[in-house]
Amino acid sequence: MPKVRVEKLCTDLELYIIRVDDDQIRYFEATWEIPEGITYNAYLMKLDGAVVLFDTTKKEYTDLFMDALEKLVDPKEITHIIVHHTEPDHSGALPRILEENGYKAQVIGTQFAKNLLQGFYGDRVVENFKVVKDGEEMKIGGKTFRFIAVPWLHWPDTMITYVVEDRLIFSCDAGGGYSIPEAIDDSNEEVVKKYLPYVAKYIVTVIGHYHKYIVQNIKKLKELGIVEEAKMILPGHGLAWCKNPKRIFEFYEQVGAGVPEKDKVLVIYDSMYGFVEKRIEIVLDELKKLGKKPVVYRFTDKEAPAVSDILGEVPSAEALIIGASTYEAEIHPRIRYTLYEIVDKANYEKPVLIVGAFGWGGVAGRKIETMITRSKFDHVATVESRGYPSSEDEEKIREAVRKLVQWIS
Ligand code: FEO
Repeated sequence: MPKVRVEKLCTDLELYIIRVDDDQIRYFEATWEIPEGITYNAYLMKLDGAVVLFDTTKKEYTDLFMDALEKLVDPKEITHIIVHHTEPDHSGALPRILEENGYKAQVIGTQFAKNLLQGFYGDRVVENFKVVKDGEEMKIGGKTFRFIAVPWLHWPDTMITYVVEDRLIFSCDAGGGYSIPEAIDDSNEEVVKKYLPYVAKYIVTVIGHYHKYIVQNIKKLKELGIVEEAKMILPGHGLAWCKNPKRIFEFYEQVGAGVPEKDKVLVIYDSMYGFVEKRIEIVLDELKKLGKKPVVYRFTDKEAPAVSDILGEVPSAEALIIGASTYEAEIHPRIRYTLYEIVDKANYEKPVLIVGAFGWGGVAGRKIETMITRSKFDHVATVESRGYPSSEDEEKIREAVRKLVQWIS
């Protein structure tokens, strides 16, 4: 059952997280498999003469959210609602909160956010809307709130808030991740280690299409000096970062830039009747001889891994090996879809080796080659042949793996 956690954050401030733990969701954005669930984080800050709500939650959890919110404050007392990003996982409860608030609160966001909110929920939600520009500051409850645009993290509407005196960054999607961590913040290293792979998966599936903007925007925040000095980074999903805040943005930078883990080679293949699998056995044997650490995902008649999990592995791989059958004069459907998403969401300059098998005519290898050469990936070689691999095929595969490994080094 979804539940909501309300906790005071690790500070002397009157600052609370209202975290909805969504364990019912299966497909984020109706696409990405996340059996691990997700959280939607909103924050409430009580100041002198002001009560500020940072983002809300998904519409279907509005009742749950309102009950939690009312334990902290009478909604009528909320003076400001900051909308960092309008995607409905953060803005879905806004209309009801404003209704309960009597439309007294000033809603703050970018011009783009205003337009989107109006389009999603009608005129009423924007009748008391304050448009802020990149870098603009406002005094609220005796504190300085600086609003910084971070377009495409995740939509063009997106901004973060920096509370200058307290050195707090409210970052919405930026800094977020999938799963429902058992802790609220990063104080337990075991929790953080378990959580970070879900952050990589989140980054690629949700923001991956715009990953160059991750690097650009974090560079911008670093140049403003606020990443180094931040006492907390408070995202809209997953863990709040109190112990080592800059760590999450550094992790985002790494994923955004596709910084590889030493020796990790991602191997993805389908095998309907074992022809491709036989080739992959040769590939894995050669990789291991060369000291590489393959991470393998396979589609067979017994298993089908989540494409979202595969995508999360791409940024940290040194190289990719794609094994594919030719299927009705096409790439096998599961590999076709997986590759389409890799090229769209995890498009990095990394070397790729293609290993294919066919019955009466090889098509998959050529088609994959075309996809790869049109992307940022580097095509190293294609080795494709009929049925089970002959000893000659085996030597060609081993040679191609050696070429790939040489390419990496
Ligand atoms: Fe978590 Fe782009 O919304």
